Amino acid sequence: MAKQEDVFKKVVSHAKEYGFIFPSSEIYDGLSAIYDYGQNGAELKNNIKQYWWKAMVQLNENIVGIDSAIFMHPTIWKASGHVDAFNDPLIDNKDSKKRFRADVLVEDYCAKIEDKENKEIEKAAKRFGDAFDKAQFEATNPKILEYREKRATILSRLAKSLEKEDLADVKALIEELEIADPDTGSKNWTEVRQFNLMFGTKLGASADSATDLYLRPETAQGIFVNYLNVQKTSRHKLPFGIAQIGKAFRNEIVARQFIFRMREFEQMEMQYFVPPGTELEFYENWKKTRLNWHLALGLGAENYRFHDHEKLAHYANAAADIEFNFPFGFKELEGIHSRTDFDLSAHEKFSGRKIQYFDPERNENYVPYVVETSVGLDRLFLAIFSNSLKDEVLEDGSERTVLSLPPALAPVKAAILPLVKKDGLPAFADKIFNDLKFDFNVIFEEKDSIGKRYRRQDAIGTPFCITVDHDSLNDNTVTLRYRDTMEQERVPVSELRRIIDEKVNFRTLLSKI
Ligand code: GAP
Repeated sequence: MAKQEDVFKKVVSHAKEYGFIFPSSEIYDGLSAIYDYGQNGAELKNNIKQYWWKAMVQLNENIVGIDSAIFMHPTIWKASGHVDAFNDPLIDNKDSKKRFRADVLVEDYCAKIEDKENKEIEKAAKRFGDAFDKAQFEATNPKILEYREKRATILSRLAKSLEKEDLADVKALIEELEIADPDTGSKNWTEVRQFNLMFGTKLGASADSATDLYLRPETAQGIFVNYLNVQKTSRHKLPFGIAQIGKAFRNEIVARQFIFRMREFEQMEMQYFVPPGTELEFYENWKKTRLNWHLALGLGAENYRFHDHEKLAHYANAAADIEFNFPFGFKELEGIHSRTDFDLSAHEKFSGRKIQYFDPERNENYVPYVVETSVGLDRLFLAIFSNSLKDEVLEDGSERTVLSLPPALAPVKAAILPLVKKDGLPAFADKIFNDLKFDFNVIFEEKDSIGKRYRRQDAIGTPFCITVDHDSLNDNTVTLRYRDTMEQERVPVSELRRIIDEKVNFRTLLSKI
């Protein structure tokens, strides 16, 4: 089995074993691509949300946050283009009866070519040792150049065919490349068809009067339809932003890779309303700002890259993804889109209401343009969780699994551990717990040996362990153990709050942006 697959399996099993993520409805054998967050997962997720919300709403004087309903008027999805154009091209394999996204089959084919390129580079790096010049090798090696050209040709043809809705050509491409069902090897494909990703539901008590609704496939439309309300009541001038965190639903054709692609997921989106003609400058600024926000988490700059879109969504005049190096390779983490005035103009047309801004400097009315940043909360969770999960071999040869989460995001900030369950140590520890609980999410644990308790806290990413022993009763000090270095130091109880706070508060994280 490939090493990447092992890493990913470990991520999934660790998430379940330590109360982060469970398959939804598990006692009924689960529901495909739906997951529940457990006790530690919910804390981590809430902390990620806080990091995003504070960075957007609290740090920017001109960005406000809202919370719009999941159920929205059905005409919204007609206006936004989702009824007509929110489709994925699907293809079925006639032998295995399995369904695939046609574009993903082609993209996976190209990813395999990229793997070959990387192997060539690795081989050359070994051969040349310190003298290896990667940039020169990539620019001149005939094999690498051939692989790159092949990939570029395939992806550009795919993009053009999808843009023209030429699904016959997408099928022809799959056949020319001799792409087979990855599980069975069969090349017996159906035609490629479009599949709308929105879930339908009904509003109303009786069958006759019920209205057909959709579960929202993005949170952004809740922001667009509230633009006027927010602008009027907040009295913000352009440019200003509206942020929102909430659930979105998509009937994904292929929902694999754990919480990377789910049918029910959460988005953190911000629409930045700007004067027409200025949108591309703001778009470039938001690309930088959002990348810096990710980098502040300390997961390693080498794990991020931009991917500028060749095929633009129906609403965009520029778009890029921030990709992250997940355990299964670089994939989209966040989208930054220059959405023009497409959405607000469409809502103006479909609702019959004027959605305009009077610009006192230009002395004119216009429909604002929009730059959007949109990050999947669950994907971000997976990025942070998988990157933080490490197996370490210690100096004495023993091993430990540690989840080195950014401290501000850790589900539990400190564990308070009486060394033994007697001699008044639990009562002393309890006092510390009752004091710290007002500032931090802390836990009290007295079961098992101290070593086992340390390992359990390492595995859920707790930055501090506080051990109470017999000396504590006399000198009012405790042993403070640091998760990452495993160093221990003796500190007065009165210092605990300050030391923990310095490491885990959001200010430390936010000031790095
Ligand atoms: N409002 C724009 C929009 O929704 P998108 O690129 O379709 O754009 C934005 O989605 C982000 O939402 C993605 O970058 C990804 O992080 C997340 N996302 C999209 N579909 C998802 C799914 N099925 N499961 C989990 N996250 C998803």
